[in-house]
Amino acid sequence: MADKTYENIKIERQGQITFVTLNRPEKRNAMSPGLHYDMEDALLRLDDDEQTRVLVLAGAGEAWCAGQDLKLYFRETANNPAERKKSNTSSHNWRWHILSKFSKPTIAMVQGYCFGGAFTQLCACDYAIAAEDATFGLSEVNWGILPGGVVSWNLTENLLPRHAMYYATTGEPFSGKRAEEIGLINFAVPKDQLMARTMELANKLLKLNPSVVRFTKEAIRAVTHMREPEARDYLGVKQDGLAKADKEIGDKVGMKKFLDEKSYRPGLGPYQRPTD
Ligand code: COA
Repeated sequence: MADKTYENIKIERQGQITFVTLNRPEKRNAMSPGLHYDMEDALLRLDDDEQTRVLVLAGAGEAWCAGQDLKLYFRETANNPAERKKSNTSSHNWRWHILSKFSKPTIAMVQGYCFGGAFTQLCACDYAIAAEDATFGLSEVNWGILPGGVVSWNLTENLLPRHAMYYATTGEPFSGKRAEEIGLINFAVPKDQLMARTMELANKLLKLNPSVVRFTKEAIRAVTHMREPEARDYLGVKQDGLAKADKEIGDKVGMKKFLDEKSYRPGLGPYQRPTD
């Protein structure tokens, strides 16, 4: 079935890798209410889409995303509480709830500008690769608001406190290289290699056991907020759930190959499918 078309975003596929691209390049992909509604709809569909095994979040043109649209998201809803609430809910739903819990691995592929509210979808993606010359910034302080929604929380979750405080309070822009140094992204790469390096990671993820990757990423996010006893209990139950969900029975196959056949060293990987 052909993908639904949207006014503010594009869906494109390369086999099992699905690219979702914010598509308001003339506005540097600033997030309008319409873009939030499109993204919420698309991500909900793709979460259940069997063809999608890895999702890449991209931006059209010279920016990844210039944050919330100051005109359409802030100013034009200022006197319309119902529309503000609707778009605010949708904004939070796709950028955090749906994306951070997406059932397939997600990669943010960042070029150009990434400002303010865009940090939430950046941190919601499981991985982030950026062009070395990308420009990140918490520009809120430069025009009189604080990093709201959940941006301040995203910062403290992902950055050392000194970095979170410095960049949030000064609004100083920083490069993709610096974003890698402070742990905001996985890799900064030359701009002309951004697509190739993203595809390399996506293809690596495609070779892994999808249930194990899904349960592992859910576990990593969940245990951050637990104390040790709850984490231990949760991880035990989660592993039981994984054993039931894993169609490739990876644990049994892996043990057999290592212990009985002595044909494989899991420590060195890569993952081997039952058929390998
Ligand atoms: N909200 C609304 N419109 C935005 C926008 C935003 N966050 N970011 C860019 N735009 C619009 C501009 O108003 C302009 O529209 P116009 O052509 O109708 O005048 C268009 O996108 C291009 O922006 P411009 O500033 O001319 O491009 P630039 O390449 O010189 O600069 C930015 C790009 C992103 C550095 C600059 O637009 C900017 O600082 N944007 C605000 C970023 C921000 O503070 N975001 C945080 C929001 S929480």
